[in-house]
Amino acid sequence: MNKAILSDNNDTKPDSEPHPEGTPLDRVVNDALVDLSDEVSLLASGEAGPRYCRDWGDDHGVPAPVVRPRTPRALVEVVRRLSKLQIPMVAQGGMSGLVGGGAPLAGEVVVSTELLRRIEDVDVIGGTMTVQAGVTLQAVQEEAERHGLFYPVDLGSRGSCLIGGNIATNAGGNRVLQYGMTRAQVLGLEVVLADGTAISRLSRVVKDNAGYDLKHLFIGSEGTLGIVTRAVLRLQPLPRERVTVALGLARLEQVLEALVAARRSFGPALTSFEVMWRDFHGFVTRTLGIGRDPFNGDAEFVVVLEVSCFDCDADRDRARIEDALARMSEDLGTDHVVVAQSLKEAAEIWSVRDASGEVARTLGDYLSFDISIPTSRLAQVLDVIEAGLHDIQPGLRKMTYGHLGDGNLHLLVACANELVEPVERLVYGAVANTQGSISAEHGIGLSKRTALADALPRAEMDTMRRIKAALDPDGLFNRGRVLAMAGTTGD
Ligand code: LAC
Ligand code: ZN
Repeated sequence: MNKAILSDNNDTKPDSEPHPEGTPLDRVVNDALVDLSDEVSLLASGEAGPRYCRDWGDDHGVPAPVVRPRTPRALVEVVRRLSKLQIPMVAQGGMSGLVGGGAPLAGEVVVSTELLRRIEDVDVIGGTMTVQAGVTLQAVQEEAERHGLFYPVDLGSRGSCLIGGNIATNAGGNRVLQYGMTRAQVLGLEVVLADGTAISRLSRVVKDNAGYDLKHLFIGSEGTLGIVTRAVLRLQPLPRERVTVALGLARLEQVLEALVAARRSFGPALTSFEVMWRDFHGFVTRTLGIGRDPFNGDAEFVVVLEVSCFDCDADRDRARIEDALARMSEDLGTDHVVVAQSLKEAAEIWSVRDASGEVARTLGDYLSFDISIPTSRLAQVLDVIEAGLHDIQPGLRKMTYGHLGDGNLHLLVACANELVEPVERLVYGAVANTQGSISAEHGIGLSKRTALADALPRAEMDTMRRIKAALDPDGLFNRGRVLAMAGTTGD
């Protein structure tokens, strides 16, 4: 369950009560880094505040010293020194994660990348951007657009999340069906290992088969193998226009038919296919008062499509889209089709879908699933989950939404503590054998370690442990995240 004070059975214990000179750990860190004060900002655990303790899933850790290097080189030096002192570190970006990965455990020092804010280079001809880890996703998107290019990854937390965190967690979001996850956008990567070794492979080319492609080990490793300092991102052609469409549908079968039809009609121009069940859409529009329901509660499912246009003739694009939508609406038997006529209308449609962070913060205790299911199995798996939840307890409150274009579903279930285990068993059991995933895009962090260990074969878990042991033998980076520490059982 979320909202617990995270604990871990490591015996490095800081003072729990901060006092004027700071905890012993504050003092050790200060002494180790004091001569770097020009290049490194240091916050004592008593002054850092909740922002460095808590993520968007409301998992919270303990107050910890926060080290914020101002340059990639300083970050490497910080890690080298703390590593020499065998001090455990937890990497932080924008803290918009949902699985407790960045929340500090007792004895850890936060290494925040938030001051590494430089966009170092945009190569218009090569279509690349070189950035430091602390640049926000939104700043990357905007800088690309200023150069007539496009960085396609997009998430509701775009203004808060940092690119280093996006890379560390292999962030997905709303355009994966066409452009892939963050992994697909990274050409070059610079990381620091737990012993302070820097690996700088800032490759700018798509084709690079020179040896093992180490960057893919770090992308999605949630800070357990290295901390990202800089990256080279691949940029795409900027669509001349992005058209947002809301469809209102009554049944999941229609939603899946709409997906097939939209793919067929728009091909690679279909860049988002997002779906909100009425429970989510109604809660956001009515209870939270965000956005508006274009179908006045008349649709069980609200689908949001984004169609990207490259034609130089805007009218021709619009006409094609409207034509295809007219056919779709006839085939699907729905009149509920709204094409945003302005950026403002598009933003209003998206504001509802983007409100998942607010939903998570407002709901209180809930179980949050982030599962991937092959779309052809989706209806069947959801039936099993629905019936199973009813058997566990009729009327359990839930909310469902997600990136159905790629099979990624977010399911929130509000349930009492004693129901957590049966509900998790039900949902993860339904995902097993579908060739899907128990964690589509949010990662494992601390909260999904047991689910991971249960879902993966032992050989795969052991291989992950061997990689962790090879790169971070002393267990200094993000200990206990993804993989429970040796000798512990996980959650
Ligand atoms: C979203 C986040 C929660 O899809 O992944 O809104
Ligand atoms: Zn999502």
